[in-house]
Amino acid sequence: MTRVFVLNGPNLSRLGSREPDVYGRLTYADLVARCEAEGARLGFEVDVRQTDDEAELVHWLHEAADSSVPVVLNPAAFTHYSYSVRDACAQLTAPLIEVHLSNPAAREEFRHTSVVAAVSTGTIAGFGMDSYVLALQALALRPPA
Ligand code: DQA
Repeated sequence: MTRVFVLNGPNLSRLGSREPDVYGRLTYADLVARCEAEGARLGFEVDVRQTDDEAELVHWLHEAADSSVPVVLNPAAFTHYSYSVRDACAQLTAPLIEVHLSNPAAREEFRHTSVVAAVSTGTIAGFGMDSYVLALQALALRPPA
């Protein structure tokens, strides 16, 4: 069974209570359940993780690179400024889908830049938790690495 990492950056554990007008009322536990259910439907073994720590996220990306595991990544605020996350993404050896719950292009100007986009296979943003479902479906459409 193909393993897939679904990696989440800072503050995403706060879904449900965090800015519900932007991110909705569904919780991080709901997100994990959604990804696991869609992953199972597609035949993936999905490993969903969240961290507020840049170093931990970089280490998970190294793990994915070393094992050729495809990654769905919501880098959260790291999207906009973390060159270490970007450089770790550049080392990946299987597809990388950048995802966002909101549509950063329609929000504050600092969110319009993604330092990760240029090293991603593609980006899906603006569909709430469906962004993750669509990303898993995009991975399922790609030939195995
Ligand atoms: C986000 C968008 C980012 O700008 C923000 O910093 C986040 C969440 C999203 O999923 O919409 O934390 O990545």
